[in-house]
Amino acid sequence: MEEDKLAIITGGAGFLGSHLSELLIKKKWKVIIFDNFSDFYDPSIKWRNAVELENIGVKIVKGDILNGNFFSKLLKKTINNSSVSPIIFHLAAQPGVSFCETHSKEAQRVNVRGTFNVLKAIIENNYPKMIFASSSCAFGESEYIPIDEKHPKNPISVYGKSKLAGEEIILDFKEKYPDFNFTIIRPFSAVGIRQRPDMAIHNFIKKIILGEKIRIYGDGESTRDWTHVKDIVNGFYLASKNDKLKDEIFNIGFGKNLSLNYTIKVIANTLQKEAIVEYINKNRFEIKHSCADINFAKERIGYKPKYQFFDAITEMITCQKKK
Ligand SMILES: NC(=O)c1ccc[n+]([C@@H]2O[C@H](COP(=O)([O-])OP(=O)(O)OC[C@H]3O[C@@H](n4cnc5c(N)ncnc54)[C@H](O)[C@@H]3O)[C@@H](O)[C@H]2O)c1
Repeated sequence: MEEDKLAIITGGAGFLGSHLSELLIKKKWKVIIFDNFSDFYDPSIKWRNAVELENIGVKIVKGDILNGNFFSKLLKKTINNSSVSPIIFHLAAQPGVSFCETHSKEAQRVNVRGTFNVLKAIIENNYPKMIFASSSCAFGESEYIPIDEKHPKNPISVYGKSKLAGEEIILDFKEKYPDFNFTIIRPFSAVGIRQRPDMAIHNFIKKIILGEKIRIYGDGESTRDWTHVKDIVNGFYLASKNDKLKDEIFNIGFGKNLSLNYTIKVIANTLQKEAIVEYINKNRFEIKHSCADINFAKERIGYKPKYQFFDAITEMITCQKKK
């Protein structure tokens, strides 16, 4: 019975977290989000998400994963007041590949120390299952595509390194506490409404509407596996409801890569406007190609993306025009 399910989502007020909360509420779960409403981007966006989530029954707790004791106490209280063990979806993070390059301490603190604190709280509270949002950036430059779960992991960005470190701490905890049960999800580039303002598609749409210049690192022939955010959070959901899973790792994407030049062309055509693009030197922390091999997720959890890249673009444009 899904009515008996309870989720605690760290970072639940953000882009992925708000979509995951909505999905779980639709599935009749009880949902608590734990978020510090960080100012990496305008916190009023996250508060707006939180208020909308509260209206559909989500409980909001403002708190910081860097305060491990507070998180552990919340977990204890939740477990004491509930007949079922919660599932912890750990999404809180310092994202943003470029931002993390110049704010590496913040990336380390939130993505590594913060993940350690969440794990410690889990161990202190009888091992509720954890689903961790890692990232495709943990792989670094692709040696082959599509990228399966076994692809070598050599992250080239501070962000990618910090997400891989999060994975490694989870594996260390598992070795020490065999009763602890986790799933790691590596999302590929999520697109859809409420996308973070620092992310590419959000920026492309905004700049094309305003007639501003889009700056692209490299020649624009880099590719990304744009994946509808609803498919991404469905991957988290499918992993959470499969009781047979034991400590597995899934790449969650669409399984097709599109170049930045093509992406910009599609957005400009949809908006019926011209895109002004300036190509600047490729930086050392952006990967060239990214594309998920989703066969393992298909076989193991029945994951199958339902939405096209174009669906997400259209929804985002409609949303942007309403502002
Ligand atoms: N968006 C993507 O395409 C994508 C791709 C791969 C992985 N991810 C991962 O998915 C997760 C969610 O990403 P997102 O794009 O939704 O980012 P987001 O910034 O919109 O969401 C992250 C949330 O975490 C919260 N947070 C940050 N620091 C915190 C702290 N110390 N304590 C409590 N809450 C804190 C923020 O306030 C925010 O609401 C992250 O772990 C990210 O690394 C995202």
